[in-house]
Parts: sequence; C-alpha cells; structure tokens
Amino acid sequence: MKVCLITGASRGIGRATALALTEAGWRLSLVARSRDALVELVRETDCEHLATVADVTSEADMVRAVRATVAELGPLDAAVCAAGIGAFGPTTDVSLEDWNAQIAANLSGTFLTCREALKDMLPRKRGHLVTILSVASKVAFPYSAAYVASKWGAYGLTKSLAEEVRREGIRVTAVLPGSVDTPFWDANPGGPPRDEMLRPQAVAAAVRYALEAPADASVDEIHLMPPRGIL
Ligand SMILES: NC(=O)c1ccc[n+]([C@@H]2O[C@H](COP(=O)([O-])OP(=O)(O)OC[C@H]3O[C@@H](n4cnc5c(N)ncnc54)[C@H](OP(=O)(O)O)[C@@H]3O)[C@@H](O)[C@H]2O)c1
Repeated sequence: MKVCLITGASRGIGRATALALTEAGWRLSLVARSRDALVELVRETDCEHLATVADVTSEADMVRAVRATVAELGPLDAAVCAAGIGAFGPTTDVSLEDWNAQIAANLSGTFLTCREALKDMLPRKRGHLVTILSVASKVAFPYSAAYVASKWGAYGLTKSLAEEVRREGIRVTAVLPGSVDTPFWDANPGGPPRDEMLRPQAVAAAVRYALEAPADASVDEIHLMPPRGIL
C-alpha cells in the first residue's frame, strides 16, 4: 500500500483528499492540530490511517510527524500540503501577528512539510510532493496582502523545489484552485457566493490525478477554477 502524509486533513480540501486517497487504497498519515476531527476521520474511513496531531508551523512537530509516519506506516510515497489559513481586509488593519500567522502556516508550514518529507524521499530517489496553493499564488487580489504574499511565496518555494529534486526521482505538483466551498469561508464571511465555488472533492480529484500519473509523466501544475472563473 502506498503511504501519503496529508496536512490540513481535519477539514476542507485536506479532508476531501484523505477520503479520495482512501478510496484509491492509500495508507494515510492525517496531520492537523484538531485531534478529535482526525480521530473521527480515521473512524469514518474504517482504515488503519494514522491521526498525527501536529502544527505545521512548528519545526519540532513536523520533524516528529514525518518520523512517526515513516515508523508506523513505512516510507513516504507522497506528501500533500493542504494546511493553510486566510484573513482578509485593508492592509492598514493587518496586525503583525495576523501577517506572521499567514506566512507561518501557508509558507513556512509548506516548507517544513516538504523539507521533512524530502529527507525520507531523497535517499530512496522516489516520492511526490503536492502543494495546495491558490489562484492567489499568481493573481494579486486587493485586501489580501498577507494571504497573497504567503501564496506567491509558496508558489516560488514549490517551483524552486521542483527544479531541485526532479532529477532525483521526486515529482512536485503545484495545485492552484480558485474559490473552494470549505470551512475556510466560515472564518471569512462576506466572501464570494459559496454555491458558485468549487467543491473540495474536485480539488481532491486533481490531487489524485497527479499522484496517479504514470511514472514517465510529471504533472507540474494544475489550475482548477469554478466554471465562472474568479468569483
Ligand atoms: N477554500 C478556498 O477557497 C481555497 C482556495 C484556494 C486555495 N485554498 C488553500 O487550500 C488550503 C486548505 O484550505 P481549506 O479551504 O481546506 O481550509 P479549511 O477548511 O479551513 O482547512 C484548513 C486546514 O488546515 C489546517 N491547519 C491550519 N493551520 C494549521 C497549522 N498551523 N498546523 C496544522 N494544520 C493547520 C486545519 O486544521 P486544524 O485547524 O485542525 O489544525 C484544517 O485542516 C489552504 O492552504 C488554502 O489557502 C483554499
């Protein structure tokens, strides 16, 4: 059975990805801070997945999470970085704390997850990293400076890593969705109409497609938009 670590697995895109990869027969290490939600997800799948409580912004947590995953489930075939947060408003109202929180979760958390996963993958010259980025990794939106900065940064990180490891047998896929109807928007009321957004299952299907690509193909980047485009 192939092994995948998924951050942000307690809700939204990460959770939908966990369900899609369960259906595809993967063994999973489900990473987030909310223990109860992870335990409930393991129960729902009725599989021997691992609930791995960790904060992606903590170096110690992510070192421990990857080590525990490899010890319990075996070498990593893939890691999906779906943990992230967003907060929106005029830049003059953004506190340094809010700014740092988004950079930490969306950019540094992706870095730590990829770095620790690569330590397991590179010696075996085998593995696949998937980063859940955003249309906001390439398009500049107003009232979103911290989020856009974190996502453009995570895009740069992903593309740089891809070039660094592609000749080492590691594939790297950037997934850039438009708006997705997840609990992300509960924390950001007043956003686009939720019934026009992508469903998280569509993003999960894109992740599965990238992971299941034949060995002689690398899905470098997926842009996935609601049919009406940017909402
Ligand atoms: N929803 C959208 O419209 C949309 C569009 C494009 C891209 N994205 C991106 O997709 C990713 C997932 O978003 P979503 O819509 O699924 O959001 P969500 O429903 O709010 O889920 C976010 C997930 O990230 C986890 N998380 C947040 N901070 C974390 C931390 N410090 N350590 C560990 N886990 C953490 C949360 O778990 P815990 O709280 O349990 O830790 C949760 O599982 C984010 O990077 C987001 O920017 C979202």
